[in-house]
Amino acid sequence: MIAHMPHPTPSRSIARKILVKALDLMSTPHHPDRYLELADPLLTTATTRARITNVDRTSLGSVTLTLRASRPLRFRPGQCVSMSVVVDGVRHTRTFSPAEVPGSRGRGVVLTVGFRPDGRVSRHLFEHAAVGDVVELGGISGDFVLPEPVPGRLLFVSGGTGITPVLAMLSGLAAAGHTGAVTFVHYARTAEHVARRGDLDAAAALPNVEVVLAHTRGGGGHLHGRFERAHLDAVAPWFADTPTFACGPTGFVDRIRDLYEDVGAIDMLHTESFEPPVVTIDPADVSGTVHFAGSGVSVDNSGGTLLDQAEAAGLTPEHGCRMGICHTCTAIRASGCTRDVRTGEVDSEPGTRIRICVNAPVGDVAVEI
Ligand code: FES
Repeated sequence: MIAHMPHPTPSRSIARKILVKALDLMSTPHHPDRYLELADPLLTTATTRARITNVDRTSLGSVTLTLRASRPLRFRPGQCVSMSVVVDGVRHTRTFSPAEVPGSRGRGVVLTVGFRPDGRVSRHLFEHAAVGDVVELGGISGDFVLPEPVPGRLLFVSGGTGITPVLAMLSGLAAAGHTGAVTFVHYARTAEHVARRGDLDAAAALPNVEVVLAHTRGGGGHLHGRFERAHLDAVAPWFADTPTFACGPTGFVDRIRDLYEDVGAIDMLHTESFEPPVVTIDPADVSGTVHFAGSGVSVDNSGGTLLDQAEAAGLTPEHGCRMGICHTCTAIRASGCTRDVRTGEVDSEPGTRIRICVNAPVGDVAVEI
């Protein structure tokens, strides 16, 4: 239900453009949005906005929001959309993995936000999101998507709110009439922490989909405890030969990656984690100067990510997820060497486009910000 987002028909699109042009002429010197949003924030033409139409807090540790967007969104199941919300007067942007509401022609999406005590945006949405609130939606991004053609057998493994891209993929497969065998192993603390229970039950009802629930702290699931090899041996003993898509907290995804590396099947594994990376600052890297060439600002290298250092210097580079998924923060590293804080990999090729939220300078660096 998510894979095929319709474009507006050509005649409607032309009529919309003519109307916007006419409004533009009438509202000069201001943008027509300045007047349109007085009538309805969703009428704006320069940005995509969405109104929250439902808030579901029935699962512990997460909130599921249903949104009605001002225009159809086009995304592939598993991709992310950036969403901006205003918290204490400051606009913050993060990325979330949406699924389309069936029959909404791309304008209805549902997304689940996990509660993180230190997460400004997730905490705000978890505690305060309400029906009628309007948020701004931005770019679609992410390469955590199914390949074409879709493999005959698939394994999904998710933890917590990592369930959301997997449910989107399952919906897309169902809409496309995929009949290959799918095993979906989902980890949640307890039965009460399982988000999107209705969507999960709908997936489990499909004849080709087997859903396995693992509870890390409570009983009642098919499996118990944190992810371990014995779990896959029990429910998917063929895992090493099967394209596997895993999404969840960083530590959870790391354990799955370690297993696939150990059994020589890392090429079968596609992963996405949704927590900002833990930046371990190597004292050996903390030297030199970071030059933000586009702004003419230079600072002593503190060892943090380039995004953190730019913000600490008073700059406001564009960004979304802050965890290397959405590519919104991509900038050109003009010179110097940087370390990917997720993998430890270093690179010094001049002119390379890097994601500044997951790269930290090693010595002198110049970046086009
Ligand atoms: S902010 Fe999303 S990749 Fe950097």
